[in-house]
Amino acid sequence: MSFLPAIRQLTLTSYRNYQHLVIDLQTRPVVLTGHNGAGKSNVLEALSLLTPGRGLRQAKLNEISCVSQPTRGWVVSAAVENNGGVNTVGTSYEADKSQRRVIRINENTKRDHSALLDLFSMIWLTPHMDSLFLESSSERRRFFDRLVYAHYPSHADYLTEYQNLMRERLRVLQDHGHQHPWLNGLEQQMAEHAVAIASARRQHLKELSPFFLDDPLFPIAHIEIIGDVEHALQDAPALKVEEGLQNIWAQQRQHDYYSGMTNTGPHRSDFIVHNKLSGLTAIQSSTGEQKILLLSILIAQANWQKNNQGSAPILLLDEVAAHLDPARRDRLFNHLINLESQFWLTGTDSDSFDGLRDLAQFFLIEKGLVKTSNL
Ligand SMILES: Nc1ncnc2c1ncn2[C@@H]1O[C@H](COP(=O)(O)OP(=O)(O)O)[C@@H](O)[C@H]1O
Ligand SMILES: [Mg+2]
Repeated sequence: MSFLPAIRQLTLTSYRNYQHLVIDLQTRPVVLTGHNGAGKSNVLEALSLLTPGRGLRQAKLNEISCVSQPTRGWVVSAAVENNGGVNTVGTSYEADKSQRRVIRINENTKRDHSALLDLFSMIWLTPHMDSLFLESSSERRRFFDRLVYAHYPSHADYLTEYQNLMRERLRVLQDHGHQHPWLNGLEQQMAEHAVAIASARRQHLKELSPFFLDDPLFPIAHIEIIGDVEHALQDAPALKVEEGLQNIWAQQRQHDYYSGMTNTGPHRSDFIVHNKLSGLTAIQSSTGEQKILLLSILIAQANWQKNNQGSAPILLLDEVAAHLDPARRDRLFNHLINLESQFWLTGTDSDSFDGLRDLAQFFLIEKGLVKTSNL
């Protein structure tokens, strides 16, 4: 059985605790085990940089270079197999040369990082995300907006451009006062972007909902968006909502100037997740239940992608298995196998992965060295 897309080879150079690492892989699930600090999460982070964005740790590019060779920058490259064959993708950062990382696909440099999404996509769950429901709304927006990118790749550009327009409006307010004619044009463009962003979020979450599994161990998550623009789109056509936003921003110019920020818009929206089985919100649930809700959401997203785009994303699940009870762990493995894309799991204890003994390829990591493990 082939699990596609799949990483077939991974090479890291001067990447965190790896001076040089090459791993050859088959199109099967991957399990990385090793002690704390061995380098398991570093491997998943390196993989996550093969998609647009800042990877699963949101790290600064210059933090990643191996400390023993800090001026050399770093390189991640991989051979990725999908239905169309094998492609070589890579990303690198050269210290002092630029503030951006470079993306290469089959040796061609790509300015547009979203070109990677034409080949494959990836989603992940890390221990850091255990606090997703307790943190500030910006973390939740980042998480849910990433799900939306897979559906609307332009969503990422709209978000960036909307941020730029908001900054520009505040600059004009500061430099030229609240009656400057440029403000009308900026607010009109902001309104167009805001409505596109809010509509994409609404549409994606609506399409996602039938893809939740009918499994009491992984309950359905109902995701509610709390946001003025998303809410207005329930009852009014997009053009009316744009007009309404322009009016609000025109009236709020002085207030926004004094507070140094735009006080209304989809950059302030939040997401509330309800467990449909218990009726409780994620915040009211235990840490373990919150993790399970996140897994339910990621599995629904992966099934949506499989159904709509032909293949599921590669899943990177860092330290997930050890925190589940044995029944849920086995059920999780089943759900992941049914996606038919490669998934990567990590843990300190190889016993948690007994259910994958015949299927997965196991690697033992010790202080930056990776060995095939016979378990
Ligand atoms: N830039 C860096 N250079 C060298 N080592 C690093 C760098 N960043 C992190 N490390 C080290 O990488 C090690 C492995 O980290 P990690 O992958 O998070 O371990 P784990 O196996 O527990 O997931 C840690 O000991 C950390 O100190
Ligand atoms: Mg780790």
